[in-house]
Amino acid sequence: MKTDRLLDEIKSKVDIVEFISDYVPLKKSGQNYKGLCPFHSEKTPSFMVSQSKQIFHCFGCGAGGDLISFLMKHDNLTFGEAIRYIAKKAGINLKDFKFDKNNTSEKREKLIQANEEAIKFYSRNLADSETAKTYLKKRGIAEESILSFRIGYANDERDGLFRHMKKMGYSDSLIKDAGLIVADGRGYRDLFRKRIIFPIYNLQNDAIAFGGRVTDDSLPKYINSPETGVFKKSESLFAISLSKEAIRKKGLAIIVEGYLDAIICHQYGFKNTVAPLGTALTPMHLRRLKLVARKVILIFDADEAGIAAARRSLSTLAELDFRSKVMLLPRGEDPDSFLRKHGNKTFKKMLAEAMSMVEFLLKTSKGDKIDNVRETLGIISAMQDLIIADEMLNELSDRSKINEAVLREELKKIKKNLKLSSHAIEMKPVGTQINREECILLSAIISFPEKADDVLSRLVIEDLTDANIRSILRKIEAVKDNLNISTLLEKADEKERALITELSFNPGFDPEHVEKNINDCLNILRQRKFEEKRKIAEEYGDISLLDSLLKEKRRLIKKER
Ligand code: UTP
Ligand code: MN
Repeated sequence: MKTDRLLDEIKSKVDIVEFISDYVPLKKSGQNYKGLCPFHSEKTPSFMVSQSKQIFHCFGCGAGGDLISFLMKHDNLTFGEAIRYIAKKAGINLKDFKFDKNNTSEKREKLIQANEEAIKFYSRNLADSETAKTYLKKRGIAEESILSFRIGYANDERDGLFRHMKKMGYSDSLIKDAGLIVADGRGYRDLFRKRIIFPIYNLQNDAIAFGGRVTDDSLPKYINSPETGVFKKSESLFAISLSKEAIRKKGLAIIVEGYLDAIICHQYGFKNTVAPLGTALTPMHLRRLKLVARKVILIFDADEAGIAAARRSLSTLAELDFRSKVMLLPRGEDPDSFLRKHGNKTFKKMLAEAMSMVEFLLKTSKGDKIDNVRETLGIISAMQDLIIADEMLNELSDRSKINEAVLREELKKIKKNLKLSSHAIEMKPVGTQINREECILLSAIISFPEKADDVLSRLVIEDLTDANIRSILRKIEAVKDNLNISTLLEKADEKERALITELSFNPGFDPEHVEKNINDCLNILRQRKFEEKRKIAEEYGDISLLDSLLKEKRRLIKKER
């Protein structure tokens, strides 16, 4: 029960609005705050945060919960990891608190452990393989990089890793869940074969996945681990664990496109370099990165594809208030080939001269000047940080020679249009036809926990039609004496949390007349049950049941009066 004390401490010290604001720009909207949901992609905000209730709910995707469930979902953390992180941030001393471990965190740890074992296996293979060592040498990868990145090799055996893992005591299902093997009709075989192996780590330095490159021209050139309980490709940045200190120190991250680029950049002294895993930058990448830096330099090839990719990334970066620059390499070069050809002095100089976002957008756009200015204004309008936005507006005016006041007016117009299109969040009526009353009863209990006893005593939970509501009510029954949203959310699973937070924001009944609402709903439910029983009795010609039902109905009617 020591966790409970820690939770109380956390909840007393950390405000959900302040906390979530670090991840999602929030604006006051009535009693609540709203913003763009970090859990699904949307253009108009349907993500709500309540300061008074200390909960969030997204009316778009249904995600909901408290501070801790937010962080768990956002950063893919276990309960223990999330409270540890928040506690640390809030300056709470963790020494006095012990953690209860749950299943998911055990599973997570096992997956990471399995990956660690695989890394050791692959590195021994590398030491034994002349092909692999020769290839890495040819690519200019130093021994030091092999060690720091823990680069390995998967040889051409069908199931060498699989057999090794089993020998080490890992179960087939765990090895499968770690994405290390695939079924192929003859049983399981290793996923990676005849490939140089690049381990992928998360910000906390856990081994979460692998990338594997062929040593010849065969295709596909790279494969990655599948998504697993610890790995999401679109959120992961290669080299983030090795770079984070350098990024933090410089306040700046260099973002390149490939594994080899990142490794060679590190080798040449640019230790603040990361790479997404063959995807464009996503908001999830940037939220991770934002924990360590607010500035980035993107490095791309100056061909059309590179420029298009940089433009896409810039608008994602702007939405998350990063200050970004772009460095273009000569056509056909990537950081790896360029550094090895020209060395780090030239590279450093080019980094220092990287184009600002505004300069890049103006110089590389295909449209005319007016189009370019408009496009740039569009990107600036997405920024929440007004100081950075203002600085960019200044620069845009300087470079385009368009009067700053005019740009400012235009920006206002764009923002106003944005607001008009993202008008108030549509509140859905609560519940479907069949479970409307059940929803309202649950909702009444959530808004007025002191009514729980009364409502539950007048209700047969098993009679309700909605399984989700039934299970929430059972949990409410279990914590009845100490019922509040926060204790309830802790007991709830994800689906239950979604309904609880939805009803907290959108109760669906008139709180002035809560008593009447409760009575009406209970009566409707009772009558519905009665009708059901009557139908069955009629169908089976059960006279005595019909008789007792009639008596019951009379009793009910009397009671109501
Ligand atoms: P590149 O084709 O630019 O490769 O892909 P690279 O990183 O420069 O590698 P080398 O220099 O040819 O060895 C950039 C990134 O795109 C992803 C990988 O993450 C790669 O690093 N990619 C590429 C894949 O996922 N699959 C592929 O088949 C190719
Ligand atoms: Mn390359």
